[in-house]
Amino acid sequence: MSEKRIFIIEYAKGSDKGFDGFRPDTKPILNAISEATGIDTEVVFYRPNRKYDLLEYLKEHAYAVISRINPGNLKAVDEYFQFLKALSNAGVEIHTHPDVMINLDFKDILAKLKGTKLGDEGTHFYHTYTEFVSNFPALLDNYGIRVLKTNYGSTGEGVYLVSKKEDGSIFTVEAVNNEKYYYEDINEFLHKFESNFEADDENAAYFQGKAGFVGCRYLERIAEGEIRVLLVGEKIVSVVHKKPQEGAFSATLFSGAQYKYESPDEPKWKEVVKLTKSGLKDINPYLSGQQYPLLWTMDYIMDYDADGKDSYVLSEINCSCVGISTQLEVAKEVAKVFKKRFKK
Ligand SMILES: Nc1ncnc2c1ncn2[C@@H]1O[C@H](COP(=O)(O)OP(=O)(O)O)[C@@H](O)[C@H]1O
Ligand SMILES: [Mg+2]
Repeated sequence: MSEKRIFIIEYAKGSDKGFDGFRPDTKPILNAISEATGIDTEVVFYRPNRKYDLLEYLKEHAYAVISRINPGNLKAVDEYFQFLKALSNAGVEIHTHPDVMINLDFKDILAKLKGTKLGDEGTHFYHTYTEFVSNFPALLDNYGIRVLKTNYGSTGEGVYLVSKKEDGSIFTVEAVNNEKYYYEDINEFLHKFESNFEADDENAAYFQGKAGFVGCRYLERIAEGEIRVLLVGEKIVSVVHKKPQEGAFSATLFSGAQYKYESPDEPKWKEVVKLTKSGLKDINPYLSGQQYPLLWTMDYIMDYDADGKDSYVLSEINCSCVGISTQLEVAKEVAKVFKKRFKK
């Protein structure tokens, strides 16, 4: 009988590939794991029309599977989550488990965390257009400016800054490309926005109730950047300060933002590290009995508290395929998790 191995699954297509067709961090992660554990590793591609073959292959050969696919790249995400679930049911260790991804990797977690230190009171999840129409206009009047995030979005796609001017006209900017739109009034905006709400797929196992948008407070200190806390399991391994280009609203690398990688021990990150550590207990109920993700981030934007001191507002969690191509030393931390579990 052949020895079992540790796998990474990638999607064959996507903009996240290196010259050889793999994500640039895939081989470094697998090499670090095999060095730490002595266990062989392998990369496979997920192809939806060959998923049953892959399922059988992995059931036979895998101890553990690390999924490195951005759900945004898949057409049938629900089907992929069910595939991972089937592997998990067959006894294969899955990172990140789909029961965890469905809870943490989508923006509605921001609304669920309301009432904890990680949640911001101004956050709402609009599953349907009806909910949106009955709640959003009043909040927009109140705040003058709001942020709307597609529940499934990534890399700034479907994240809109919405502002209302004195004359009642509406102005929106999309984070992915800083594309700007004008609407004469709230009714025109609501009417145009309706098409962004999708109906639930009746056959979905995972995605019931997940379509829609999360509305948040606009945090003007985004101009100072986004603070990404990178974790391996429960351990904070680095803090990345992402600063948007002058005048831009998006902090994604693609939009030209500057990234600075720093140690979590730097005194200036003390508060955000403390908040993240204490927030783990609030994340815990959403793990559905699984482990904390192998490699994940909590992204924050700065704000001021009532005393005018710096505070941090959680703006998203990523746990499906956080890239570490520019910080490959993190691969060693990932490998430690497997060393603990699979040391012979
Ligand atoms: N509450 C907010 N206030 C101001 N800007 C925000 C806010 N939330 C997100 N942004 C901006 O929009 C970008 C994309 O939003 P984010 O929540 O990170 O979604 P994703 O990265 O999945 O597209 C962020 O990088 C940031 O620049
Ligand atoms: Mg983001």
